[in-house]
Amino acid sequence: MSINDEQDIEGLKRIGAVVAEARDAMGAHVAPGVTTAELDAIGKQILDRYGARSAPQLAYGFPGATCISVNDRLAHGVPSRDCVLKAGDLVNIDVSAELDGYWADTGASFPVGAVSAQASALLSATRLALEDGMSKARAGEPLRNIGRAVERRAKQCGFQVIRNLCGHGVGRYIHEAPSVPNTYDRDDRTVLRAGLVITIEPFLTTSATMAVDDADGWTLRTPDGSRGAQFEHTLIVTGGRPIVVT
Ligand code: CO
Ligand code: CO
Repeated sequence: MSINDEQDIEGLKRIGAVVAEARDAMGAHVAPGVTTAELDAIGKQILDRYGARSAPQLAYGFPGATCISVNDRLAHGVPSRDCVLKAGDLVNIDVSAELDGYWADTGASFPVGAVSAQASALLSATRLALEDGMSKARAGEPLRNIGRAVERRAKQCGFQVIRNLCGHGVGRYIHEAPSVPNTYDRDDRTVLRAGLVITIEPFLTTSATMAVDDADGWTLRTPDGSRGAQFEHTLIVTGGRPIVVT
């Protein structure tokens, strides 16, 4: 969506704060021995407290309030009592929800206990890639410069970018136009306008460059077992720094 007035900004900030609170509360409970179903219950409790509705449930009938993806699972992982976190894992928590007709989407990856040096380097590189991408989210800037910045950071840190997972427009629904690629597409002529609401969500891995469908019908994972990380914010484009609502 593109915002029209102050009411739109306030609506996005309200739902943005809710999904951010759920993300952080779930992240604070990440530990060896915790199941992804337990983390999901914490997120659901926060969404319920504010009367927010889970976006993946509402839009796609997803079997969970939030998406929780471990190690080579990149996105849309289904929370499960059988999925017990263990030290050394990387877990991604993605929370998106609707409140009063406004939708916001956020995600973060967390280390479980002590992780390898490579895993913690992957987390910091992905966080930096998101920051680099956000620094290009400015009115008048070509959209493709976001992907270029993400890709540049990944390369500089020795990691790969998943090419077929992208950020997206958001605000009045979970997935809106435009697609916000994490790689440089020279043919994309889209120019960012003030008021546009998008997510930026780089997925970096230790080797894979494409996500594939898992047999469970929901999860997207790497084809080669390599691990990934993702960080995501919802933001409103302005003539200066974007307004990050998550
Ligand atoms: Co998300
Ligand atoms: Co998203």
